Amino acid sequence: MKTIAVLTSGGDAPGMNAAIRAVVRTALDKNLNVMGIKRGYSGLMNGEIVPMQRSSVADIIQRGGTILKTARSKEFKTEEGRKRAVNILKTFRIDGLVVIGGDGSFRGANELSKLGIATIGLPGTIDNDLAYTDFTIGFDTAVNTVLDAINKLRDTSTSHERVSIVEVMGRNCGDIALYSGLAGGAENIILPEKGYDEQELCRGILEAKMKGKMHNLILLAEGIGGAEALAEKVENITGIETRATKLGHIQRGGSPTCSDRILASRFGYRAVELLEQGKSSRVVGTRNGKVIDLDIDEALSQPRRFDEKLYEIAYALA
Ligand code: F6P
Repeated sequence: MKTIAVLTSGGDAPGMNAAIRAVVRTALDKNLNVMGIKRGYSGLMNGEIVPMQRSSVADIIQRGGTILKTARSKEFKTEEGRKRAVNILKTFRIDGLVVIGGDGSFRGANELSKLGIATIGLPGTIDNDLAYTDFTIGFDTAVNTVLDAINKLRDTSTSHERVSIVEVMGRNCGDIALYSGLAGGAENIILPEKGYDEQELCRGILEAKMKGKMHNLILLAEGIGGAEALAEKVENITGIETRATKLGHIQRGGSPTCSDRILASRFGYRAVELLEQGKSSRVVGTRNGKVIDLDIDEALSQPRRFDEKLYEIAYALA
């Protein structure tokens, strides 16, 4: 292994820059050449490849987004697109590739490995929806962004004695809602993993009001529905003023937290170690505080996990 490359793909996540930095600096430390590929697989197919030095990744550990830019590419999903990508990698004499992204990006990396390129995937997504790892890069920062918003919304909902429904990202995974709901003291957390009953939710809101609750904060994961529609129903049924807030892409930005920077640094380091050892088609993650790596197919076929205990605690403390 002489030359490796790194790219970011799919939705960006805070901490991706810290991961790029770790890959670049570890590679240089091990006397490997390292290249940066711009705009994910789409940039790869267009040969948007630049050499990286230590200075290329200076002053980025604290920055959100990705200095390499990111994209979602339809063309790369075709056999022709992937063959083009491999030819480009061979032209640049790149024999190892680190892909930072989510499950779609990992599937792409797996296909490239079948065509003779050593690939390692790092989980970079705010959604925390990859079952093989306890945490993904960007999740902790996103949860803290949501928490900050909840703290502010709590002030105004208390003053007006309103119900506040906050819709958060996560695709089909409810982890952002679950973690920020528990940490933010939400009265209700609505997740795709658990479902909910409208009547029961409204009865709970009315009962809480009777007991003297000044506000009612509901965390709603985007994978189960929209905040606007639910707010209208809740207001109609309960008669209590209800406001909807969709936090949207604010959750994808911002300076990464300490946890995300450390996770990204550990993952980036392991990715280069694996390539150096001649490994391919593997993904890096964390389990019980330890960095792990496993086969991409195995990682992607793991059953969805849900922390029932956290959910139980959140409701017991609400
Ligand atoms: O996967 C990250 C994510 O932010 C999801 O939580 C969200 O559903 C989606 O990406 C939004 O995608 P886009 O940035 O393309 O609108």
